Amino acid sequence: MKSASTVSKVTTHVLQEMKLRGEKIAMLTAYDYSHARILDESNIDVILVGDSASNVMAGHKTTLPITLNEMIYHASSVMRAVKRALVVVDLPFGSYQGDSKEALYSSIRIMKESGANAVKLEGGKQILESVDRILSAGIPVMGHLGLTPQSIHKFGTYVVRATQEEEARQLIEDAYLLEAAGCFAIVLEKIPAKLAGQVTKKIKIPTIGIGAGQNVSGQVLVLHDMLGISQDFSPRFLRRYHNLYEEIKGSVSAYITDVKSGEFPNQREQY
Ligand code: KIV
Repeated sequence: MKSASTVSKVTTHVLQEMKLRGEKIAMLTAYDYSHARILDESNIDVILVGDSASNVMAGHKTTLPITLNEMIYHASSVMRAVKRALVVVDLPFGSYQGDSKEALYSSIRIMKESGANAVKLEGGKQILESVDRILSAGIPVMGHLGLTPQSIHKFGTYVVRATQEEEARQLIEDAYLLEAAGCFAIVLEKIPAKLAGQVTKKIKIPTIGIGAGQNVSGQVLVLHDMLGISQDFSPRFLRRYHNLYEEIKGSVSAYITDVKSGEFPNQREQY
């Protein structure tokens, strides 16, 4: 079997093969053309147009306010840049819970209007009917279990989920149900590494962890967090690869100084 870096387009099938041969899946979020282009040209496997756009793009405190139209806008911008990566789009809060027909219509709008490759929904057995209906229309579905940010008001806190036996048992059952329904992968967010490893062993589809340790099929981070653009979010699982906040601030300060002093533009920068 070939490594994923040799494929010209990552598909859900490629991700299944990666799990089979133990090749880790690298996933990051993107919400706009410019960043998506850099990610795709760096050979990222999966781009998630996450509803974390509500936080990092729009400045909301939670993921709840972002709308379906806004998600389609972000997804369309990303799709204009991407040639190789599989692009998955979050169904936003209120566009699928409690009504499987609405879940299907929301997914169809995302696929038709943005050209994305798959959708992601948060939850287990409560959303199975929606998952079924979306899949019956031929739309690939990624699941999301553990700390599901759209339920933050129910949890009341962003602490690690499923540390107690009952919640861990429910999470394993939900993973089985999502796999049986036909999901092609499941995101496991902020759960104990041991539990994430058990789930990954029990099911055949890939698991993508965020704060779920090493024993999963792949990892996902929010781009703005790993680049150090967002500063007010520092969970233990977050590795910052850059401090772009300070870099951008430094460049902006230098620009302001140059403009104020008349140093910019110089002779060579004018017509
Ligand atoms: O919206 C998002 O960015 C996500 C990831 C944290 C998995 O769902």
